[in-house]
Amino acid sequence: MPRLNGERRHRIAFTLDGKPVSGEAEPRLLLSDFLRHVIGETGTHVGCEQGICGACTVEIDGRPSRSCLTLAVQVEGAEIRTVAGLAAGPETLCVLQEAFRARHGLQCGFCTGGILVSLNALFRDKPEASEAEIREVLSGHLCRCTGYVSIMEAALAAQKRLSGKTHA
Ligand code: FES
Ligand code: FES
Repeated sequence: MPRLNGERRHRIAFTLDGKPVSGEAEPRLLLSDFLRHVIGETGTHVGCEQGICGACTVEIDGRPSRSCLTLAVQVEGAEIRTVAGLAAGPETLCVLQEAFRARHGLQCGFCTGGILVSLNALFRDKPEASEAEIREVLSGHLCRCTGYVSIMEAALAAQKRLSGKTHA
């Protein structure tokens, strides 16, 4: 088996946004780095690399998780979903993405992917989530831009549309 810097590499394979992917990873390689540097999927951003900012959030087997706190070798055989897999295709936006665009919920966009992954899971698993529950989810995501007002408005607009209460 090939070695890099003396560490044994492992071949790992999993499903990424509905497609099978594979690559080699040293045991210490983070999932966030594997996604960005081995697979070349840069939609997942990396901020703090210590589990605080939420920028790197992806779904692992249906649960929003910090990819900077997950080793790539841990996701062998798992289903991973990133922000790049939320819409039906590259030319379309999902309801959440449309709402964030319409309500100015994305500012520089650095934190946005992780927020969308977390909100997508919340609205899928708990469509009637309260405003407090939405805020609690957002509290796990640090946005360094102007604040959370537009983000919250976008989240509420998306929730209404997803629940069929509005078409706006
Ligand atoms: S980069 Fe993973 S939580 Fe900040
Ligand atoms: S939109 Fe810039 S960090 Fe959140």
